[in-house]
Amino acid sequence: MSSITGFNFNLSFRHLYIQFPAQSRRKIEYGCTCTAVRPVLCSTSSSVSHSDENHVSTSYSRRLMTFMITFLLPLPKSIQLSGADAYAAADDLVLVQEEIRKVLSKSKAAGVLRLVFHDAGTYEMDDDSGGMNGSISFELDRPENKGLKKSLKILVEAKKMVDEKQPVSMADMIAVAGAEAVSLCGGPKIPVRLGRLDSMVPDPEGKLPEETLDASGLKQSFQRKGFSTQELVALSGAHTLGSKGFGNPVIFNNAYYKVLLEKPWLSSAGMTSMVGLPSDRALVDDDECLRWISKYADDQDLFFEDFKNAYIKLVNSGAKWRRDS
Ligand code: HEM
Repeated sequence: MSSITGFNFNLSFRHLYIQFPAQSRRKIEYGCTCTAVRPVLCSTSSSVSHSDENHVSTSYSRRLMTFMITFLLPLPKSIQLSGADAYAAADDLVLVQEEIRKVLSKSKAAGVLRLVFHDAGTYEMDDDSGGMNGSISFELDRPENKGLKKSLKILVEAKKMVDEKQPVSMADMIAVAGAEAVSLCGGPKIPVRLGRLDSMVPDPEGKLPEETLDASGLKQSFQRKGFSTQELVALSGAHTLGSKGFGNPVIFNNAYYKVLLEKPWLSSAGMTSMVGLPSDRALVDDDECLRWISKYADDQDLFFEDFKNAYIKLVNSGAKWRRDS
């Protein structure tokens, strides 16, 4: 058995076992056929029959040597460590999720999900400014971020616990916490990649869409951030959580779209006139948005799938990544 960069190589007759650091075993075929993964392994003369067992035994040491040269001599770092990094990233994600789950509850989920939009939603494609970079920490006194201090506070607490074992950025914490909030409330499970870097300065001001925008203004705002109308409608479904009157405030489902179609704000009866923000109501008045609202109202699975994909895009918006991520 040989060991290099944390991997253990165990050579048996036809298989190479690589013991990855995370105790996972991978089996790689390296048989002597010319179609082997690395043809260089079969460097013996073609005049020798491949069906000849002697060929296998007499060329074994040569192939072993070739294998050693091919696999064990220094490779570019990115190749050498790619498997190890993948496992390390998976371990880190579990650690981040565990610490977030300790501080998150259903009643805190809406605030945490809103935090994601207020950190990432500052992104502007044209000058590549803003985005998912943890800069919300410096922006809590802005009027649009009113009420978000307590949501960030619980993540700061969780981050301290993670940092003791493995440093993590605030941007990663927020991205993972939003996904945890969605799944805790019954929404889709969203895979979040780690490795975002934090900004040390606040993002430019005035980049989040205002709640008074009409559908055309919302579409333009989202377009500047790289999102389609469909993604605008899918992401707005986050408002199903919280206190704006779209069903149960701690259940993530497609009630937002069902309620939008009923336009309860047109009724003068009781609290129904209070349902939704102007920006939510504006979506139903736009034909293109309305088509997506109807689809999501009919098909929760489709909403979950589209929300998941748009969320992944949101938390990667404008992110700057660690070189090894
Ligand atoms: C389309 C443009 C959007 C506008 C104009 C907007 C604006 C707002 C406003 C004004 C509130 C109410 C805050 C309060 O109760 O004081 C709110 C709540 C919320 N927003 Fe948005 N938002 C938008 C998109 C999004 C997106 C894309 C997400 C996440 C993916 C999101 C997540 C939330 C959540 C979860 C709440 C409820 C917070 C709570 O009740 O604690 N919003 N939003």
